Amino acid sequence: MSDIEWRDGTLPISKHFDDPYYSKEDGRAETAHVFITGNNLPQRWNKSEHFTIAELGFGTGLNFLETVYQWQALADVTARLNFISFEAFPLKAEDARTALSSWPELEILADCLLDFWHWDGTGLQIDFAPNIHLRVFEGDANQALPAQNLNADAWYLDGFSPAKNPELWNENLIHEVGRNTRTGGTFATYTSAGFVRRNLQAAGFEVSKVPGFGRKREMLAGIKHAT
Ligand SMILES: C[S@@+](CC[C@H](N)C(=O)[O-])C[C@H]1O[C@@H](n2cnc3c(N)ncnc32)[C@H](O)[C@@H]1O
Repeated sequence: MSDIEWRDGTLPISKHFDDPYYSKEDGRAETAHVFITGNNLPQRWNKSEHFTIAELGFGTGLNFLETVYQWQALADVTARLNFISFEAFPLKAEDARTALSSWPELEILADCLLDFWHWDGTGLQIDFAPNIHLRVFEGDANQALPAQNLNADAWYLDGFSPAKNPELWNENLIHEVGRNTRTGGTFATYTSAGFVRRNLQAAGFEVSKVPGFGRKREMLAGIKHAT
C-alpha cells in the first residue's frame, strides 16, 4: 500500500516517490487538459462504438472518474468504454476518498469506485456501468504489460515524474506501450522529458510538444504510425 502525506490537507504526495499524484493547481482540470483533450477524446468518442483507454499509474482513480464523467456526457449511450490501468502501490481507501473529495461533481462516481476498492494482489475488475468496464492490474507494469495485447485507442502515461519514477518511463516499457496501441491510436502525458520523447518515438509514435497544463509550458502527445 502507498504511504501518503498531505500538502495543504488536500494534495496527496507519495512518500516513497516524493511526488504529488496530480497538479496542485487542480488535478481534475489537469486530467481534462492533459489526458482527455491531449488524446482528442471528445471528438473521437463521437465516432466510436467501442473505445479502449489504457493507463500507467491508477493512483487515486481521478483520471478514470473524470474520463467516465466526460464519457457519460459525450459518448453515445450504446457505446462501450474499456479502461485498463496498472498500479504497483495502491492507495488505502481512506486516502483515495480524501483525495477525491476535492471534486463534489465526481462524488457519486467516486462512491461507486470506492465500493470496489479491495486490493488483494490481483487488482480490480469492475463492471462500473452497463457500458463501462474497468480493469486494474496490480503490480509493476513492467511485469504485467508485456503479457497483454490491448490494442488501445489511447494511453494516459501518468507515472510520477520521470526523474523520480524512471522505471515507469523506460525504453522497454514504452516499447510495450507502442506494441499495445493500435495503428492510429494515441498517447498523452504531462511530461516533456527528452528521454521519454525519444522512447516514444522509438516505440512507433509521431510525437508532438503541445501546451501543458497550468504552469507547465509543454507536454507530449502523439499518434502511432503504421509500421
Ligand atoms: C502520478 S500517480 C498517478 C495518478 C493517477 N493517474 C490518478 O488519477 O490519481 C503515479 C502512479 O503510478 C504508480 N506507479 C509507480 N511505479 C509503478 C510501476 N512500476 N508499475 C505500476 N504503477 C506504478 C504509483 O503508485 C502512482 O499511483
